[in-house]
Amino acid sequence: MKAIVWTEYGPPEGLHLEEVPTPSPREDEVRIRIHATTVAAGDCELRALRFSLGLRILVRLLMGITKPRPKILGQEFAGRVESVGSRARRFRVGDAVFGTTGFAFGAYAEYLCLPEDSRGRALALMPSNMTYEEAAAVPTGGLEAWHFLRRAGPLRGRRVLINGAGGGIGMFAVQLAKEFGAEVTAVDGAGKLEALRANGADHVIDYAREDFTQRGQTYDVIFDIAGSSSISGSMGALTDHGCYLLGNPGVGARLRGVWSSRKRGRRVIAGASRQPTEDLVFLRQLIETGRLRATIDRRFPLAQVPEAHRYVDTGAVGGKVVVAVVGDPAQGSSAVGGSEDESSTVDRIGSAPRRTTGPSVGSTRRTVDRHHRADGEAQERAGGVPGRE
Ligand SMILES: NC(=O)c1ccc[n+]([C@@H]2O[C@H](COP(=O)([O-])OP(=O)(O)OC[C@H]3O[C@@H](n4cnc5c(N)ncnc54)[C@H](OP(=O)(O)O)[C@@H]3O)[C@@H](O)[C@H]2O)c1
Repeated sequence: MKAIVWTEYGPPEGLHLEEVPTPSPREDEVRIRIHATTVAAGDCELRALRFSLGLRILVRLLMGITKPRPKILGQEFAGRVESVGSRARRFRVGDAVFGTTGFAFGAYAEYLCLPEDSRGRALALMPSNMTYEEAAAVPTGGLEAWHFLRRAGPLRGRRVLINGAGGGIGMFAVQLAKEFGAEVTAVDGAGKLEALRANGADHVIDYAREDFTQRGQTYDVIFDIAGSSSISGSMGALTDHGCYLLGNPGVGARLRGVWSSRKRGRRVIAGASRQPTEDLVFLRQLIETGRLRATIDRRFPLAQVPEAHRYVDTGAVGGKVVVAVVGDPAQGSSAVGGSEDESSTVDRIGSAPRRTTGPSVGSTRRTVDRHHRADGEAQERAGGVPGRE
């Protein structure tokens, strides 16, 4: 199969399109034909080891001291189950699925094998009303946003500020906070404020022009995704018993946050999300009922993943950068993207019909219905989520 192989920490030149062995599913695994994946800010930070010194050392210890050990990056995907192991029961060949790979990575490829059920990664049937590209844009950002917001407690009637609201996590955080009844203030660059309003934000702040901690306004929940807010300023902008969610903290910020949380009953919550499958099923239900959507900024074919990384490195991204691994067979295109026709492939992908390959919407809906039974626990969860009435 074709995959983008990651050979070196550093600039995108360490990513190469290569032919590698197609993986075979173990007994409890499914093999997924990946139709779309994404390039997230987190992928680029990992590729370039763009972390604090302590975290850089930790990542090298976990992922390879001199060279990265996981050879293929990519954390989220949408695709079709292409074969199932002998003990795999949740999915059938042909099911359209979306999910996260966790720390195994591996989504910048034509095929991926994943256990049906495992901790630290999520796999569920795809929303029946999304294309593969749209569905691939949901899992990591959606799960991360939901992980933090639910921990803030009921949101109805509360003032929630989201810092870094226009990015891959923020665009879901704004919608989820609105969905659960919050009054939302979204903070990001000027170019993203219009889209944030369209996503439901009640108020917007351009971070280059105004420091939200200096406005004299208080919030019940401050969710800092960009990792740029000052701890003391944010604590001062919280109501008594407010909640400060640190989506992207350094070690120092974590420690200062824990120390500050002792004052006036304010809570500081930091840490990594677990990405459980039932949360992804919950997001799918919101999508299928028209209450959550993904915003795609730009599309690239698989061969242009290094280019996509360069683009995400510029920081000028509003929404998700999607990699189309499979194009539209009806048009005879392959989104792997040969060098002879890459730009026209991008154009074709850009105007692809809503569902490019795989089951029809009708047949997908049938498989979704079948699996809604298996996903029963998630439906129960959806009935009891914070902020719901
Ligand atoms: N995506 C994931 O799966 C994941 C999971 C866990 C943690 N994280 C971490 O969380 C962080 C955010 O992830 P993401 O995918 O949402 O990144 P993203 O798509 O790059 O979004 C970050 C947003 O924050 C904005 N921003 C930059 N500086 C700001 C400031 N001073 N004040 C307010 N907003 C500011 C950026 O706007 P500009 O265009 O102006 O820069 C951008 O819109 C990353 O560091 C990532 O590693 C990501």
